[in-house]
Amino acid sequence: MWSRRLNRFKCLSTSVATNVKNNMGWWDHVLLAPKDPITSVTEAFLSDQSPFKLNLGVGAYRDDKGKPVILECVRRAAEKISCCEILESTKATTKSKFVQDCVKLAYGNHSNVVGEGRFAGVPALSGTGACRLFAEFQKRFYPDSQMFLPMPTWSNHHDIWRDSQVCTRTYRYYDPNSKGLQFQALMNDIKNAPGRSFFLLHPCAHNPTGVDPNYEQWKEISHIFKIKNHFPFFDMAYQGIASGDLERDATAIRIFLEDGHLLGCAQSFSKSMGLYGHRVGCVSIVSRDEKQATAIKSQLQQIVRAMYSSSPVHGPLLVSTILNDADLKALWEEEVKFMVDRLIRMRITLRRTLEELNSSASWEHITKQVGMFYFSGLSPEEVHQLQRDFHIYMTIDGRIRVRRNGCKIGSLREYLPHLVSKQNWRVIFPLHVALRTPPRLIKNEEVYVSICSI
Ligand SMILES: Cc1ncc(COP(=O)(O)O)c(C=O)c1O
Repeated sequence: MWSRRLNRFKCLSTSVATNVKNNMGWWDHVLLAPKDPITSVTEAFLSDQSPFKLNLGVGAYRDDKGKPVILECVRRAAEKISCCEILESTKATTKSKFVQDCVKLAYGNHSNVVGEGRFAGVPALSGTGACRLFAEFQKRFYPDSQMFLPMPTWSNHHDIWRDSQVCTRTYRYYDPNSKGLQFQALMNDIKNAPGRSFFLLHPCAHNPTGVDPNYEQWKEISHIFKIKNHFPFFDMAYQGIASGDLERDATAIRIFLEDGHLLGCAQSFSKSMGLYGHRVGCVSIVSRDEKQATAIKSQLQQIVRAMYSSSPVHGPLLVSTILNDADLKALWEEEVKFMVDRLIRMRITLRRTLEELNSSASWEHITKQVGMFYFSGLSPEEVHQLQRDFHIYMTIDGRIRVRRNGCKIGSLREYLPHLVSKQNWRVIFPLHVALRTPPRLIKNEEVYVSICSI
């Protein structure tokens, strides 16, 4: 009896041991994923122990102290909905109201598309989720299609379409020499793409360059899209943040609508309402008629259902509350304008300060670029060097969030002796980090950027 039990125990322990051994093989082939080029900047910044570190990589609006800003309109909307029973609510009406509000904002209050119900939309997990839903939709109905992305673009665009198994190609957009739009090259690339291609367009405050086509150029782009029968997908993460005017920032979309395009649109409220943590966004597709819109919506809903069932309601409710209350909407518009005016003032100061250094370079592009970022033109090596030697962080493409650096003034002074002693400080210093005192590091006219006050 005892020996039988012992044998059974031995068998059991051998099979457990074998299982443990087998299990050890389950995930052995999983290697560390490559770091995300944007989130890794913040990770690296946080693990830097230097008291002088400076993060210019964050892709969100911040106040003078580098802190996130909660808009007053959002505070008031939150109070207004605080008694709503939202925790259990997944009401379809809340969601369709939110989508209706979003499309009005993007397509215009009096747009035919809205009036005729010719759009299909669903709430999305912010701008990223909206792009991802569209990419999944594209794959489902145009499995062999590709997505043309501007060069450069927000790095996650490449990952989103790659993970949705849609091939990506690029079209020329930014000219590093002129630090502006490569308009003719862009038009050629649109012309030379196979007919009925999908193109991603940034309607305003292009990330990372801050360079947008002007009105006439958008008209020409829309025209060539018509001729080539391309599909425009607008990723609008910064409505209001380019000009301070929500309507004006939707000009590109309105031009395309006037020209009769069927288009797609991703919207995000992360930046314009400071709702980054709520992940509030919307994806919508303009359709031929209402019947087609219903079909498209049902497919988008099916994609959502299998991915995460349904979206949270609190964020969309906040947004709808603001958009449907005349006072809150006006307050929001004022707050957006304030943010943008402040960004513009900082750009002007930065440009003026650099020009006062008598540098031979032109700094016009600083004030020509729009939005939250200044695309500095620093090379990846220079970005690495700034990070390694001076604890200054930004994305690898040299994108810098326009900011006041008042709180860092003391720290940068600490670096001056170090910088002067560097053989290659002219390379390291095409960055205008903050110092309120007049810059003393200017050695000769050729120093095209130096330390300055913003
Ligand atoms: C062009 C563009 N699209 C989409 C997003 C994603 O926005 P969200 O944070 O709302 O997902 C960003 C954010 O940086 C962006 O710059």
